[in-house]
Amino acid sequence: MTKPVPSNALDRVLVLEMVRVTEAAAMAASRLVGRGDEKAADAAAVEAMRKAFDELYMDGTVVIGEGERDEAPMLYIGEKVGGAPGTGPKIDIALDPLEGTTITAKAGPNSLAVLAAAEEGCLLNAPDVYMDKIAVGPGYPPDVIDLDKSPTENVKAVAKAKGVEPHEIIACVLDRPRHEKIIAELRALGCGIVMIPDGDVAGVIATTDPDTTIDIYMGSGGAPEGVLACAALRCVGGQFKGRLLFRNDDERARAAKWGIDDLDRIYDLTDLARGDCIFAATGVTDGSLLEGVKRRKGGLVTTESVVMRASSGTVRWVRGEHHNG
Ligand code: FBP
Repeated sequence: MTKPVPSNALDRVLVLEMVRVTEAAAMAASRLVGRGDEKAADAAAVEAMRKAFDELYMDGTVVIGEGERDEAPMLYIGEKVGGAPGTGPKIDIALDPLEGTTITAKAGPNSLAVLAAAEEGCLLNAPDVYMDKIAVGPGYPPDVIDLDKSPTENVKAVAKAKGVEPHEIIACVLDRPRHEKIIAELRALGCGIVMIPDGDVAGVIATTDPDTTIDIYMGSGGAPEGVLACAALRCVGGQFKGRLLFRNDDERARAAKWGIDDLDRIYDLTDLARGDCIFAATGVTDGSLLEGVKRRKGGLVTTESVVMRASSGTVRWVRGEHHNG
């Protein structure tokens, strides 16, 4: 993949400042970890993220957010965020203040506060529908994965490229009845399957980290989460293919509203996140990517975050110690 040209607009938004935004959302949500209340956890994260954006010098627009204007009171699609409307650099933002609301409510692994930022027009306005996804980490020949091929064919292709037998491949799949067929094929091949209860942004990113042992991600999840995961893969490498899935006319109408006319299109990494982009995430609960928020004695709160940029490929891990979290 050729390196994207650095964006002047993103230069002016301090890349590291994006971490403050995800930290704020994660710390707010962390108070609700294990409290059995998805909605309250999400609302806390949304409010904190919304407030933290105001500190940034930018003229931001939410392109992927909490829903459409009539569905979400804050961080809705089209909402302006940032402290410099009309004067600051124009930045599009894809966000999920709490990726893994159920995980948070149940104190499970891998919930994150997450966002991606890019120049205007560079992130796909993905409708809130499902997306069929397949992803691998860096180092494979181009197009090693293919959404038109079966799970068996994809695993065999990845195994061949990795120089291992198909049964040595480890796949990550969301634990859902709709994935029964994928799981049956993976079982027939003898693959290892990491079944995750929720949180496919972390699931896709896990393919890029050899420590997770996950080679391939497969299955359907939210389309907005697909865009967020692609922004991360643009920074660290990897391949992704996605196709929107529509269950009814209402969902097809949503796609039309965002200018999507080819409903069967297979999207590549750069169709979802183009040009230079930033990805930032803070762990809410412990996970494969990040440690969760920890509230320690004496009011100390620790966080772990990652912020990456596509044009430089720089990945920064940020451990925060907060005395006011
Ligand atoms: P929420 O944070 O909105 O609950 O999303 C969690 C999640 O697991 C995503 O990571 C994933 O893309 C999507 O839900 C899958 O949807 P579903 O739960 O309907 O299978």
